[in-house]
Amino acid sequence: MVSSVTGRKYLEGSRAPVTEELTTYDLPITGQIPEELEGRWLRNGPNPYGNVDPNSYHWFLGDGMIHGVRLRGGKAEWYRNRWVRGKDLAERLGEEPPSGECFRNSGFSPNTSVIGHSGHTLALVEAGISPVSLTYELETIGYTNFEGTLPGAFTAHTKFDPVSEELHGVCYTYPDIPDRVQHVVVGMDNRVKKVTDVPLDGMPMIHDMSLTETYALIYDLPVCVDIEMAMSGKRFPFAWNDDHQPRVGLLPRNETAEDIIWCEAPSCYVFHPVNAFDVQTNDGTNQVVVDLCRFDRMFYSDLHGPFESIPKLARWTIDPTTGTVSEDIVSEQSQDFPTHDPRVVARKYQYAYTSWLDLGHTCRTDMETGETILHNHGEGRFGAEPLFIPRADGENEEDGWVMVVVNDQNNGPAELVILDANDMTKEPVARIHLPQRVPDGFHGSWVPDTVVSP
Ligand SMILES: [Fe+2]
Repeated sequence: MVSSVTGRKYLEGSRAPVTEELTTYDLPITGQIPEELEGRWLRNGPNPYGNVDPNSYHWFLGDGMIHGVRLRGGKAEWYRNRWVRGKDLAERLGEEPPSGECFRNSGFSPNTSVIGHSGHTLALVEAGISPVSLTYELETIGYTNFEGTLPGAFTAHTKFDPVSEELHGVCYTYPDIPDRVQHVVVGMDNRVKKVTDVPLDGMPMIHDMSLTETYALIYDLPVCVDIEMAMSGKRFPFAWNDDHQPRVGLLPRNETAEDIIWCEAPSCYVFHPVNAFDVQTNDGTNQVVVDLCRFDRMFYSDLHGPFESIPKLARWTIDPTTGTVSEDIVSEQSQDFPTHDPRVVARKYQYAYTSWLDLGHTCRTDMETGETILHNHGEGRFGAEPLFIPRADGENEEDGWVMVVVNDQNNGPAELVILDANDMTKEPVARIHLPQRVPDGFHGSWVPDTVVSP
């Protein structure tokens, strides 16, 4: 695989790294922050420290940096941004190494997502790295392996089932474990309670998973390790592989890998599913519905980042009895970073929230009717991954807020914007003015203090 495209576009403009770690208090606000919002907005993304070679840079390999805002009592008490101290970065910074051991002794700084789970704040990345645990104030504590119960690496994308209170992930490890991935379930005691080894050929890049009440979904799609690139020493050796048969696996949550039902999938790549759920048709057939943002191809001509084609919102209906997947494109609009109400994970739901990648609008799509509602953040202002936060006494998927960081494409400081989900077209409920840019990154979370306390 040869590409003449460099990684320069992933180091410039709104993706350019920031160079300082800031701590600021009592942030200026336009509007009123809802008083019941007590917790932290957190976001992770690549922010390479020091000089990097744009010719070899891959966006997915920049050092992780967390940005965070703490809300309480209608105030934005602080903003912080901190690099995640993987072992390598700590050494480059001249600091003590983080505590704990990273699986297979990697020194990478997780750069893809940040979650709160049962009292812990975790920075995450896929492909062979242990989670890094952070303090409430975003300082690195060290690598964690869930009290010694995680047998391998972890993933960037987890699914938390609000009913069973299980954290699910599908994990793969490059290059040490080339022949399988692992479905991992973590309990509220922060210990791994179930691991299922799933044999796979070709070492596909599995960025995310889906969950229904019955199944964990495993995306075996045609972005795989390219042996030629791996042998040449590429740090990111994944590329499109026309010979890899796309399929999605339905792993029964309470069974073994022998019980997986593999279904032929459309030829595409999926970083991010929205949500999935079980359905029963009128004739009694059990099916799975999954909504996702799908690219026609990935890492085919651009081997430094993902923006060579546009992701479209689609619905797959998976029939386990026939092993088939039917696909409906819900929208041709370029959109990704999908989220939804966290109370409906793995269950039938109505609203998908996405970011329109070309215009920067925040979009809500009614997945039952296809109707969309947009919030236009203004000229040159781009909304990143939107997060839905349900109102404490809210009963439906409209009752809450949408929280999204909005970047100024002219390199002005970012804003953390809170929209009323009941009417996203209105002016924001609040705009929290951050002291600097938040470079285009990947994923974040709203972590209430009830999940991780100060
Ligand atoms: Fe992702």
